[in-house]
Amino acid sequence: MDFTLNEEQELFLEMVRKFARHEVAAVAEQVDREHRFPQETIAKMGELGLLGLSIPEEYGGSGGDYLSYVLMIEELAKVCASTAVIVAVHTGLACTSIARFGAEAQREKFLGPLAAGEIIGAYALTEPNAGSDAASLTLTASDAGEHWRLNGSKVFITNASEAGIFVTFARTDPASRGAEGITCLIVERDTPGLTISKPVEKMGLHGSVTCELHFDNALVPKENVLGEIGHGFKVAMQMLDGGRIAIAAQGLGIAEGALDYAIRYIRQREQFGRPIAANQGIQWLVADLATEIDAARLLVYRAAWLKTAGRPHGKEAAMAKKFATDTAMQVTSDCVQLLGGYGYTREYPVERHMRDAKVTQIYEGTNQIQQMVIARHLLR
Ligand code: CAA
Repeated sequence: MDFTLNEEQELFLEMVRKFARHEVAAVAEQVDREHRFPQETIAKMGELGLLGLSIPEEYGGSGGDYLSYVLMIEELAKVCASTAVIVAVHTGLACTSIARFGAEAQREKFLGPLAAGEIIGAYALTEPNAGSDAASLTLTASDAGEHWRLNGSKVFITNASEAGIFVTFARTDPASRGAEGITCLIVERDTPGLTISKPVEKMGLHGSVTCELHFDNALVPKENVLGEIGHGFKVAMQMLDGGRIAIAAQGLGIAEGALDYAIRYIRQREQFGRPIAANQGIQWLVADLATEIDAARLLVYRAAWLKTAGRPHGKEAAMAKKFATDTAMQVTSDCVQLLGGYGYTREYPVERHMRDAKVTQIYEGTNQIQQMVIARHLLR
């Protein structure tokens, strides 16, 4: 396994890093404080071709490899985890689902506007009573001639209030249970009968909107079925195998952003007549945190490398997601500690990193679900 970046990846990384450090970092604190979707940054990312990384060039995308995509999420998360998850759901879940499973007409209709950021994508799997147990979903799609008639609700839908399309999972076979009988549909925002709630208030990720969707006899044209009827659960799971690598990269970036800041801080903060970084207790802590981050990075890049190579990566994605996001929580909490009382205030970014880190252990499958996925791979 060789993670040496080729020239194209190096150039891409340099461009993304510059963009993240200047444009994204400049509004990160404000976006968090004002609970504001970073419209201007997302629009610029569309112009730069960064939103269409999973979309082939012939459909208006930039056709990047998966490792480049993961590097981008990591760079964004170092400065603004909200921006990272907006892009992860838009590009990694919504765009990728259509690029991979879409019929020609669907690709032609949706991928160009998605790549340009003219429309934002969301991924609607979770329901009030179907979170970890995704296969128990009950959003009903009943046959209505040329349409599917949708009734039910989705919750915790990232990007929802900004989204133009929702890659949605519904039960098209009323007699089915569990993973059978679920179909994936592209639901357009202006679908009559679809209502989107106000964003829910969260502990962190204040720039990322999270809403409920309510379907009340919402008619979705049959031409919007994504993939095969009744095979939606596998689409969902395959998308999450990749999505979890992006969330792992988000955790990695959050941890790196917090530790970078804390290291700068401990070198200049003086107590007892010298920088606190001169204390061995602090040196050993940052050494341990940096080691954990490096271990997480290797797991994340390995999973991305396997996916880029077209090799099985479900177990490795779950390992990377669990380890990197647990690392993010630990590192950000320790970084708040390193900054002491200042770390607990909104004046310094580490408390934002800590609030943002928490949900990475929860969404795209809790870390307990990742343990289940890993164990099933080991035991089957
Ligand atoms: N790839 C392809 N097929 C898969 C698969 C995968 N990774 N995982 C399962 N399947 C297939 C199985 O092979 C099986 O098919 P067959 O019957 O034909 O063999 C079928 O799907 C059912 O599989 P399981 O019996 O393993 O399913 P399960 O009900 O036990 O559930 C689970 C498995 C892993 C627990 C799953 O429910 C899960 O991942 N839960 C977590 C949900 C989740 O991650 N939600 C994220 C929401 S999106 C989000 O969070 C985005 C955001 O906002 C940031």
